[in-house]
Amino acid sequence: MTVLGIETSCDETSVSIIKDDKLLSNLISSQDFHVKYGGVVPELSSRAHLQMIEPLVKQSLDEAGLKKEELDVVAATAGPGLIGALLVGLNFGKALSYSLNIPFVSVNHIEGHIFSGFLMEDKPEFPYLCLVVSGGHTLLLLVEDDLHIKKLGTTIDDAAGEAFDKVAKMIGLGYPGGPKIQAYADNGNPDAIKFPIAQLKTKYDFSFSGLKTAVLRHIQKEFGDSSKIPEDAKPDLAASFQEAVVKALTNNVKKAIDKYEVEVHSISVVGGVAANQAIRKSISAIAQNRSIKFVVPEFQFCGDNAAMIAYRAQKLYENGIISDLSANAYPSLPKDIFI
Ligand code: KG4
Ligand code: ZN
Repeated sequence: MTVLGIETSCDETSVSIIKDDKLLSNLISSQDFHVKYGGVVPELSSRAHLQMIEPLVKQSLDEAGLKKEELDVVAATAGPGLIGALLVGLNFGKALSYSLNIPFVSVNHIEGHIFSGFLMEDKPEFPYLCLVVSGGHTLLLLVEDDLHIKKLGTTIDDAAGEAFDKVAKMIGLGYPGGPKIQAYADNGNPDAIKFPIAQLKTKYDFSFSGLKTAVLRHIQKEFGDSSKIPEDAKPDLAASFQEAVVKALTNNVKKAIDKYEVEVHSISVVGGVAANQAIRKSISAIAQNRSIKFVVPEFQFCGDNAAMIAYRAQKLYENGIISDLSANAYPSLPKDIFI
């Protein structure tokens, strides 16, 4: 079976083709021009997707050595994401499937991330504990099989990636914040400043807004404002903030493993923030301690990519789940998606 997947939920236009579980192409065009605005400008994002989508579909077919008539399924991200951006990929996908008279599968972006570990050679084994850390979501999940996901915890305010992006802005490191914080943190001392880690009543939930405020207060107290932070103070700030995020994430993963160790066969960290080396290292150490398999996607599958959408669509299709052409785009996570 050959699936073409399309992803346009934010600032990456991506097209991928998977044939019988084999990845034939995964093209990702990142909209780097948002850097000068300090964040993604939705209208510009939609326009750039419109320009890129058709050439990327053609290039992906060329790279896979296929004609469009050889496709069996077309899939596209339906949400969550920027509504105008989503509509570009979703409508292109629907039109392509209609013109080829083949099934269309709409895919939830977060489900794409959750199963992205399966794009690796060494795959997660069900049931697995999954930490989703992206720009818009922070979720701790028990993934029982292809169709059953139990939500253990989520963020009650900011997502982990959002915190990275906002704190990077405060420190004056620019956008996108995650990679910038990591680069500065590499030269800083993670124990230089003790930032708070939220203690919530709910066992597996996360909160990052207090941490964000603590960084702001520290900057105000020590330097007056962001523009006055000396260059040589930035690495310690970045490293200490990153350390607090790592601790917040690992605390909950440890708690969940204490409870579910007997049944859990793997631990997987996914989403854009899973590219962070300190996070990969600390969650991997937890898994190693308990002799549980650890799976983190390689970098091209951590950030937004269509390979995870094509993979998820293939699984949905195999389970008899296809969409009709009235499938809608949606901007945020539907409440009833997880058990
Ligand atoms: O999954 P993703 O590409 O898009 C969403 O679905 O949101 O995640 C993007 C997020 C951004 O907040 C970005 O700053 C963060 O992932 N990110 C990182 C790193 N690389 C990307 N955060 C921390 N460390 C990184 N190395
Ligand atoms: Zn994403």
